[in-house]
Amino acid sequence: MHLPTKINILSLSLLLASTANAKLNQLAKNAGKLYFGTATDNGELNNTQYVSILSDRREFGQLTPANGMKWEYVEPEPGVFNYTDGSVVANLATKNHQLLRCHNLVWHSQLPDWVPNTNWTKETLKAALIDHVTHEARHWASQCYAWDVLNEALNEDGTYRNDTFYAVLGEEYIKIAFKAAAEADPTAKLYYNDYNIESPGPKSTAALGIVTMLQEAGLRIDGVGLQSHFIVGSTPTIDQQISNMKSFTDLGVDVAITELDIRLLLPSNATNLQQQSKDYEASVGACVQVEGCVGITVWDFWDPVSWVPGVFAGYGDADLWFANFTKHPAYYGVEAALKNGTHKGFKG
Ligand SMILES: *[C@@H]1O[C@H](CO)[C@@H](O)[C@H](O)[C@H]1NC(C)=O
Ligand SMILES: *[C@@H]1O[C@H](CO)[C@@H](O)[C@H](O)[C@H]1NC(C)=O
Ligand SMILES: *[C@@H]1O[C@H](CO)[C@@H](O)[C@H](O)[C@H]1NC(C)=O
Ligand SMILES: *[C@@H]1O[C@H](CO)[C@@H](O)[C@H](O)[C@H]1NC(C)=O
Ligand SMILES: *[C@@H]1O[C@H](CO)[C@@H](O)[C@H](O)[C@H]1NC(C)=O
Ligand SMILES: *[C@@H]1O[C@H](CO)[C@@H](O)[C@H](O)[C@H]1NC(C)=O
Ligand SMILES: *[C@@H]1O[C@H](CO)[C@@H](O)[C@H](O)[C@H]1NC(C)=O
Repeated sequence: MHLPTKINILSLSLLLASTANAKLNQLAKNAGKLYFGTATDNGELNNTQYVSILSDRREFGQLTPANGMKWEYVEPEPGVFNYTDGSVVANLATKNHQLLRCHNLVWHSQLPDWVPNTNWTKETLKAALIDHVTHEARHWASQCYAWDVLNEALNEDGTYRNDTFYAVLGEEYIKIAFKAAAEADPTAKLYYNDYNIESPGPKSTAALGIVTMLQEAGLRIDGVGLQSHFIVGSTPTIDQQISNMKSFTDLGVDVAITELDIRLLLPSNATNLQQQSKDYEASVGACVQVEGCVGITVWDFWDPVSWVPGVFAGYGDADLWFANFTKHPAYYGVEAALKNGTHKGFKG
């Protein structure tokens, strides 16, 4: 065993002293990541206790607006743009010196009625798509660290989802969207974002195919977002998540965990909360082990504002903070995974 020098002992003890009380974003940075972040939404920003945790940059170094940048809010009528809701979260991130993941430019869901209801030709839909992406990406160009350019374009079997964009334009719509985004915002990292692509399988393979399709067309794609909406006790293993992440980073793109939450069958008890902690630790641990995984975003951090109970009947308590603002055991699972990365840095 080799003896560390005095300086190493000193800096190690300083770092350990500081990591003992460190919060999640600080630990993520110590582990070599860019951020540990969270989604948030306009309706919850009236809660002062919530906002004080949200705005604590030691805890969260990055924000994602959960809704305000979606098409239905931003372009409710053709050519009429409304940036009000999205700007509230964007400006809060700027004020707090937090990175902003912008979400999203093109998605089959939360569209205003005029998009699916117009009788499009290839030419008119292409023009409307370019117009939407260009206006929106330009509007927030100085503020977005990353854009989810395209969200959830795939079916579970790896075929393309046959939404309005695909039905009219075929896979060409994906190239149109990424090209327009790259031109409108040259600095934001451009992402494809989806769920059930967190472990190897047909859908993940199809997402790899989107990356190579864009690369072969000479278009820019910088990353793939692994949403990671999981269920306690049935998440992919850490090894599956690592090998899946590497399949993307091997193509030269970043990955990020973009929407992590792990729901349990209510009510919570010591057993399912302990399993939830292990499950959070595995996902965050996978990102820590993969160099090209740039950061982790939870899909909000406070149970009462989680989307889960409204969508998955009987499930809840998916986040890191309970309703009374005490922390789930899973908070400490995340902490352990991030600290494991911190220590790894010293092993050389
Ligand atoms: C914040 O607003 C929501 C509705 O958007 C409301 O349900 C909630 O009670 C409000 N919270 C506070 C602390 O005012
Ligand atoms: C823009 O959106 C905000 C927030 O949803 C809304 O209050 C406002 O009325 C909208 N503006 C216009 C001109 O529709
Ligand atoms: C849609 O447009 C096509 C071509 O212009 C036309 O033949 C068709 O009748 C239109 N359909 C509807 C429902 O308006
Ligand atoms: C997609 O949907 C359109 C109608 O909306 C249909 O005409 C077309 O055959 C569908 N394509 C596939 C591949 O299912
Ligand atoms: C805890 O909750 C789970 C459901 O999430 C249930 O299957 C299990 O029996 C409960 N355990 C205890 C000790 O209550
Ligand atoms: C901790 O890090 C080691 C490598 O340094 C890795 O093998 C192990 O899986 C990690 N554990 C967790 C829970 O992340
Ligand atoms: C907060 O809520 C959790 C989950 O319901 C509970 O286990 C805990 O005892 C509560 N803590 C306080 C201080 O009320």
